[in-house]
Amino acid sequence: MAYITVYNEDGFEVTQFEVPDGKRLVLALEDAGIPILHRCGGYARCTTCRVEFVRGEPTRITLAEQTRLASDTQLQGVRLACQILCEGKMAVLPLIRTDNATIEDAGTRPLDTLTPDPEWKDLSDDEIDHEHAP
Ligand code: FES
Repeated sequence: MAYITVYNEDGFEVTQFEVPDGKRLVLALEDAGIPILHRCGGYARCTTCRVEFVRGEPTRITLAEQTRLASDTQLQGVRLACQILCEGKMAVLPLIRTDNATIEDAGTRPLDTLTPDPEWKDLSDDEIDHEHAP
């Protein structure tokens, strides 16, 4: 099982829950009642599923996520919840939600499996953002 802690922008813990290892983080958050957006349906395109990691940032990344994050300097320090599989202890701040955005439709529910088909790359320690505190 993976243990997920969710924070809000004020640094307060919103909820904590367990999910099976390997569940897509975006689905874990949504199924736990966090109104996270996923406007492209989980294809690493829209970036509305972006989260900041407080703890437990994965040390690997899909090529689709890495390419998308590298395409926009405003995406530095975030990760895409649709491209992350739950494992271990993770603590995150979901940044764009229906309760803090002007968009009411979260988007098509992503599939249970990663899309597009993942091509994994390991991140170096320098590439992992350790700066976030709740
Ligand atoms: S990038 Fe669109 S849902 Fe993740």
